[in-house]
Amino acid sequence: MVLKTPRISRQALPGQFLEIKVADSYEPFLRRPFGVHRVRGENLEILYEVVGKATEILAQKKAGEYLDVIGPLGNGFRLNITHSTLNILVAGGMGVAPLMFLAEKLAETKHQVLIGAKTKSQIFCEKEFQDLGSDVKISTDDGSQGFKGKVTDLLQKILPHAISHKPLAIYACGPRPMLQEISRISKKYNIPAQISLEEHMACGIGACLGCVVNTRAGYARVCKEGPVFDADKIVW
Ligand SMILES: Cc1cc2nc3c(=O)[nH]c(=O)nc-3n(C[C@H](O)[C@H](O)[C@H](O)COP(=O)(O)OP(=O)(O)OC[C@H]3O[C@@H](n4cnc5c(N)ncnc54)[C@H](O)[C@@H]3O)c2cc1C
Ligand code: FES
Repeated sequence: MVLKTPRISRQALPGQFLEIKVADSYEPFLRRPFGVHRVRGENLEILYEVVGKATEILAQKKAGEYLDVIGPLGNGFRLNITHSTLNILVAGGMGVAPLMFLAEKLAETKHQVLIGAKTKSQIFCEKEFQDLGSDVKISTDDGSQGFKGKVTDLLQKILPHAISHKPLAIYACGPRPMLQEISRISKKYNIPAQISLEEHMACGIGACLGCVVNTRAGYARVCKEGPVFDADKIVW
């Protein structure tokens, strides 16, 4: 979905998100968070999957309608644009959504994008990443495309070779078990990893404490101190 949001588009950083009120009614009552997928001038794109009431309503919007949007929210990824580092972006399912914007910012650096999904039809943005010049690798749980297995298994497969060549940095977005595994792998290989967490959110601006996660420094709000955290800071 393309939104005309001049101010947000100017300010948005990869990893930041929007809180969208999908209807004027009390149902659904809460705004819903969506990562910034791409920015094109004044336009900002989100990429989303219909999973429930709010996303169903969103999918029925017509061109020219107005939406109540707050953003950009959250901290975003810290970019490693030194040319000596190989940046590895790991996406699970709809986790590709914010990583596209990140890949655009890292396009001049050497980077790889690993995209994992249950099956081939759920792999998104492969061509768009390739058009950016990303080295793209795919994994599917059922083996219908690319490596057969989890995207974290694919990461473990390429790491021993990659790590002998360059310093690495990992950036990941996807389901919680995947991010937990990324944390384990990054610790095992001593590679810095930034992970974008998804929690159910209410206010989205740090006021309600509805989105906290446990970190080594105490509880942190995913909407305010996150959604991007250093993987080694999270207590799983
Ligand atoms: C920072 C952030 C960025 C996000 N970016 C994107 C994005 O770019 N594209 C996208 O498709 N989705 C994204 N999401 C998830 C998206 O917000 C939810 O899918 C959406 O709120 C669902 O609303 P709904 O009313 O359609 O479904 P609901 O009826 O609220 O939920 C439907 C199902 O999805 C689950 N669910 C809802 N919200 C979440 C969540 N935050 N995390 C895990 N499970 C959830 C519910 O438990 C339920 O099983 C993001 C979430 C966060 C926190
Ligand atoms: S959603 Fe309210 S504090 Fe994060």
